[in-house]
Amino acid sequence: MPDYHSIVILTGAGISAESGLATFRGPGGLWEGHRVEDVCTPQALARNPALVHRFYDERRAKLAEVEPNPAHRALARLEREWAGELLLVTQNVDDLHERGGCGQVLHMHGELNSALCASCGAARPWQGSLPPGSLCPVCGAPALRPDIVFFGEMPYQMDRIDAALRKCDLFVSIGTSGAVYPAAGFVQTARYVGAETLELNLDPSAGSIYFHESRMGPAGELVPEWVEELLCS
Ligand code: APR
Repeated sequence: MPDYHSIVILTGAGISAESGLATFRGPGGLWEGHRVEDVCTPQALARNPALVHRFYDERRAKLAEVEPNPAHRALARLEREWAGELLLVTQNVDDLHERGGCGQVLHMHGELNSALCASCGAARPWQGSLPPGSLCPVCGAPALRPDIVFFGEMPYQMDRIDAALRKCDLFVSIGTSGAVYPAAGFVQTARYVGAETLELNLDPSAGSIYFHESRMGPAGELVPEWVEELLCS
C-alpha cells in the first residue's frame, strides 16, 4: 500500500444501514415513503412546516434506538491511530460517527441533533422534538428549524472540503449512491489532483467508473478490513 499523507473520506447513508437506519434510495428507502419535495426543500418547510418538522422529529427519535456499527468504529480507530492528515466528511445527519468514537466529523448536510434559526442563522444542539415556531435562544425569533441542508441549499463547509480534496492523496467513498451533488463530484476533484480513489459500497454507485478501485459488500465488513490494511501496511 502506498505511503499516504492526506486522506479524505466521504460517507453516506450506507454506512449507517447496518445500524438500522434506512438509506434514502432503493427499496424501503426514505424517499420511497416520502417525496423529497414534501419534506426536504425550503418550499416544503414554508408550505407545511408541521409535516417537515415531524419527519425530522421521527428520524431524531429513531436515532436514540440505534447504535454505531463496526464501520463507524473502524473509522474512529483510523482517526486515533493514523498519523497523517484525515478529513471525515459525512452526508449523514445522524451522530453515529461521533458515538462510534470519531472526534472530528464534518456534517456537510447538517445534523438531526441541531436546530437552526431561520432568522439569525445561529445553530444550537437539540434533542427531542422540535415543534414549528420554537424560539431561538439567541435572537428570540420563533424560527427554529431542523438543521438539515435541504435540496437547493448550500452544503456546509464546502471551502474546507474542497481544500482538503485538492491536497489529498487518497479519497475513499463509503456507503453512498453518488446520486447527489456536490458530494458525488468529490471523486472527480480527487482524480484531478492525482489522488488514489477507493469506493466501499454494497452496490456500484453512480460514479463507480471514476474510482481506481471499487470493493462491493457491507460497510460493517469492508471498512474494518480496509482500516486494518491501511494501518498495518
Ligand atoms: N454497506 C455499504 N453500503 C450500503 C449498505 C451497507 N450495509 N447498505 C446500503 N448501501 C449503499 C447502497 O448500495 C447505496 O449505494 O449505500 C448507498 C446509499 O445511497 P442513498 O440512499 O442514496 O444515500 P446517500 O448516498 O447517503 O444519499 C445522499 O441524498 O437525499 C439525500 O441528503 C440526502 O445525504 C443524503 C444524500
